Amino acid sequence: MTDTHKAASAAMLKQAHTHMPMGVADSYRYWGEENTVFLKSMKGCTITDCDDQTFVDFRLAYGPIILGYRDTRVDAAVIDAITNVGTISGFSTGLDSEVVSLVKKLCPNIEKMRFANSGTEAVIGAVRTARGFTGRNKIVVVEGGFHGLYDEMMWKSDVDNWNCDTQSAPEIIPFGAGIPESTREHQVSVPLNDIAALDAVFAQYGNDIAAILIEPIMGNCGSISSTQEYMQKLRDISDSNGSLLIMDEVKTGFRVAKGGVQELYDVKADLTTYAKAIGNGYPVAAFGGRADVMDKISFEKDGVTHGGTYTANMIALSAAKATLTILSETDALVTINRVGADIQQLLSRVFTKFGIEHRFAGPDSMFGIHFCNEVPLNYRDWKKTNSDLYTEFALNLIKNGVMLEPDSREPWFICEAHQNVDLVWLEKIAELSMAQALGQ
Ligand SMILES: Cc1ncc(COP(=O)(O)O)c(C=O)c1O
Repeated sequence: MTDTHKAASAAMLKQAHTHMPMGVADSYRYWGEENTVFLKSMKGCTITDCDDQTFVDFRLAYGPIILGYRDTRVDAAVIDAITNVGTISGFSTGLDSEVVSLVKKLCPNIEKMRFANSGTEAVIGAVRTARGFTGRNKIVVVEGGFHGLYDEMMWKSDVDNWNCDTQSAPEIIPFGAGIPESTREHQVSVPLNDIAALDAVFAQYGNDIAAILIEPIMGNCGSISSTQEYMQKLRDISDSNGSLLIMDEVKTGFRVAKGGVQELYDVKADLTTYAKAIGNGYPVAAFGGRADVMDKISFEKDGVTHGGTYTANMIALSAAKATLTILSETDALVTINRVGADIQQLLSRVFTKFGIEHRFAGPDSMFGIHFCNEVPLNYRDWKKTNSDLYTEFALNLIKNGVMLEPDSREPWFICEAHQNVDLVWLEKIAELSMAQALGQ
C-alpha cells in the first residue's frame, strides 16, 4: 500500500474490526493498521484497492491464479454450469470423471483421484489414505514446507528465532495456541536435501513410517527446491521401506509444468495433492495417485473414509474442467515461463546495478528471490539470506504499484495475463524501489 493515507481502506478496516478478529477473514490478510489491503476489483494480472490504486499483482492470491483474474473462458464455463445444471445435489455427475480424465492426461502419476475443497482438505485425505493403506502412523515432513491449517501440519521449524551458532537444529513449535501437543506425536521433520538426516529418521522410525510428505519445490519457502538426487532418494527409501511418497503439489500442480513437479523431475509420487491452479481461483482441490492405494477408500471395515458436502460441486468442477482444458490445449504455460524468465532477467539487472548478490530459486512460473551468493538448499540456509533487505524492497514495490508478499519465503507467481505487463515500466519501478530500500 502507498504511504499516502488510504482513507477508504482505513474506514473498512475500522468497521471490520467490529465484525472479525483482527478485522480480516483470514489472519494472513492482516498487514497492520496502516497496510491492510481492501480490494474493490481484480482483472487480468492487476488488482485495484478501495482507494483506487491499481497494482500489478505477483501474489495472485498465493498462487491459484494461473491464467488471470476474471478469465472469461473459465468464468463463462462456471456460469453455464450453474445456470443450466446447478451447484450441488449430494449426487454424482458426469463432470466428476471428465475432470479426473483431464488430470490423468496431464499427470501420468494419477490413476485414481478424489476431490476436495481446499489444499488443506486434500492433504488430510492423502495422509489418511496413506495411513490406511500402510497401517502405519508416522509422516515425515520437510522443514520449511507448508501443508495447510490442520493441527497435525501446524508444527514448524522456528528458523526465525534459530541461533545457528548455538543450536544444532531449530526448535519445532506450533503455529499458535489451540494445537494439542499430541498432534505432533506422529510427525517427524527433516531438513530438505539432507540425505543423512533422512536415513537417520528411517533408521529410527522406519517400520512405522506411513509416508514422506513433501513440497519438492517449496512454494512456502522461496521456491527452495529438492535436488534431483534427493528426489530419487525419497523415491528409493520409500520403496525399500514400504512407505508412500506424497508430493504436495498444491502450489506447483498445473503451474510449473503441465504435469507439475513430477514432470520436471521425472520421479513419481504414490499420492499427490492438488489445488490452486487447477481451478484458476475457484475453490477446487484433489488428491490421487496409485489405484491400489486410492482403492483403500471404501466402506470395508478396514477402508478409509472420505467425502464432504461440497466435494466435487459444480462450481469447482466446471472451473477445473475449463482451466485444465486451456492449460492442456494452449501454450499458456510456455507464455508464463517466458514472462517469468524475462522478469527475473530484469530484476537481476536491477540488483546487479546496486551491487546486490542475488540468486533465484525454483521455476520461472513461481520463482523465489534470495539476497545471498548461493542458492539456498533448505530452510536453514534461507536464514543466511538478507531477507530484511528483500522485505524493504518489497514494501517499496508495493508503494510503487507492484503487489507481492513482503516476505522472501513467498515466491513471485506469474499468470498468463502477465504477458501484458510493460517490462520497461517494471524495471524502472524495481530500480526505484531498490534505491528507496537502500535509502538512496
Ligand atoms: C503446499 C501447500 N499445501 C497445502 C496448502 C493448504 O491449502 P489451502 O490454503 O487451500 O487449504 C497450501 C496453501 O498455501 C500449500 O501451499
